[in-house]
Amino acid sequence: MSRRLTGKLVIATHNAGKLREMRELLAPYGVEAVSAGELGLAEPEETGSDFVSNALIKARAAAKAANLPAFADDSGLCVDALDGAPGIYSARWAGEAKNFGAAMARIEAEAQASGSPSRRAHFVSALAVVWPDGEEAVFEGKVFGDLAFPPRGMAGFGYDPCFTPDGHARTFGEMSAEEKHGIPPDGSEALSHRARAFQMMARTLLK
Ligand code: IMP
Repeated sequence: MSRRLTGKLVIATHNAGKLREMRELLAPYGVEAVSAGELGLAEPEETGSDFVSNALIKARAAAKAANLPAFADDSGLCVDALDGAPGIYSARWAGEAKNFGAAMARIEAEAQASGSPSRRAHFVSALAVVWPDGEEAVFEGKVFGDLAFPPRGMAGFGYDPCFTPDGHARTFGEMSAEEKHGIPPDGSEALSHRARAFQMMARTLLK
């Protein structure tokens, strides 16, 4: 049986949107979450070649610097017509200015230029938990759907307005926080990639 997460935890992110979602997900478990930003921890360079490696890089750095268990997510949007791009480069496509309007326009333009008729895409979230003594656990959640252009909705963050999850007519940008990443009390599968990875983690590591 694996170790449980209790007490204080560092959320290794400087992304306000992800921090808000992770805090909302952790709230029911009585885990006290401080963020890497609040602790003034430096952001490590994400040099991994996949989501899991980048999540581990962030969680390992935060666990070492704060001497607390650390929790990190690496996530992004993978577009079939673009061979999986922007993928692990999802944040970088928005640039220093975090201009996701421009990043979504680039996806639309490049998907059109690719000549592929596919509008399929999926979000991935890899969650890594690292304890200061070096123990590690990783969970990966995905949600499949279609690209939506023009983007719709002001809720959420990042690429939410240009993604419609399968089985829904609205984009993530048009959904409430509860609908996008709420954990269904009946134990059924959550909707967002991050909430799905979180559900796997909660079953293993949280009470
Ligand atoms: P990173 O995990 O910090 O490298 O950044 C991942 C990037 O992927 C974020 O900045 C967002 O642009 C995008 N992303 C990840 N999860 C979501 C989501 O739930 N909605 C919209 N965009 C997301």
